[in-house]
Amino acid sequence: MPSEPGISRIPKAELHVHIEGTLEPEMVFDLAARNQVPLAYDSVDELRARYRFTDLQSFLDIYYANMAVLRTERDFADLASAYLTRAAAQGVRHAEIFFDPQAHTRRGVPIATVINGLSAAVRDAAPETSAELILCFLRDESAESAMETLRAAEPHLDQIIGVGLDSAEVGYPPAGFTEVFRQAAKLGLRTVAHAGEEGPPEYVRQALDELGVHRIDHGIRALEDAELVRRLRIEQIPLTVCPLSNVRLGGFPDLAAHTLPRLLDEGLLVTINSDDPAYFGGYVGDNFAAIHEQLAIPEARLYELATNSIRASFLPHERQRRLL
Ligand code: ADE
Ligand code: ZN
Repeated sequence: MPSEPGISRIPKAELHVHIEGTLEPEMVFDLAARNQVPLAYDSVDELRARYRFTDLQSFLDIYYANMAVLRTERDFADLASAYLTRAAAQGVRHAEIFFDPQAHTRRGVPIATVINGLSAAVRDAAPETSAELILCFLRDESAESAMETLRAAEPHLDQIIGVGLDSAEVGYPPAGFTEVFRQAAKLGLRTVAHAGEEGPPEYVRQALDELGVHRIDHGIRALEDAELVRRLRIEQIPLTVCPLSNVRLGGFPDLAAHTLPRLLDEGLLVTINSDDPAYFGGYVGDNFAAIHEQLAIPEARLYELATNSIRASFLPHERQRRLL
């Protein structure tokens, strides 16, 4: 489903994309060859055929396995450059990019390799597309591991804009990470967290109250709690919604069943994002095209959603104004 040229012309920010989730099957094979990493698949087609997910965990298993091919600074730089090029072609003028350092340090790749590689790509991106990095803690690892990761990132604070929380959600409530988020905020970092993707509305509330986050990643299950919806509307807390991801991970049987129209009718500050585009069938422009075609979101609303993404970004107001 290619992003329509019209949609690609709308200036937008992408606020919810995991750089490891932009690792296309072709690049898995290229990097495996470059780094002599054995693969369990014989071809790109065979790998892609495994991308049939039933839930978040079934995706995460293959997402983490594929990362084995990412070893050097150059690998991380190539990965991020490829994403930035594709995103720019779909109208992304600014990206706030998640990365999962623990998924690399636990297999022996130093955090400096990850951050320096990604930063090099951000620095070398085309001048019309800016980018920032958000370090995510894996919530299915311990709070102590998250704190160690934050400490290891301290020499690189000028290379990251914030911290987030991702990975398997149910059974790993945000409140377990209160201390590390407090420490991150003290260091001047912005904060976001995945909540209400598969987990209950209570996790969204905890992300707001315990972690003090500026944005909620996903947040779709907030709709189950009218009081929480009221709060999200009144406080205009941005939700980074990922329509194709939600369908691919079994949240909805198809895109026509997605609750995006309800989120919009409730007056919430919604943005549209790709999450893990190499796995879920499209980049951010493809997500815009899909909601236009399959959810009948009118063009005027697409512009509003793009404007929301710029307003919900961590860009200084002056640059936001220039993009609007
Ligand atoms: N890591 C990468 N993609 C994710 C998602 N959709 N939810 C939680 N963690 C993730
Ligand atoms: Zn995500």
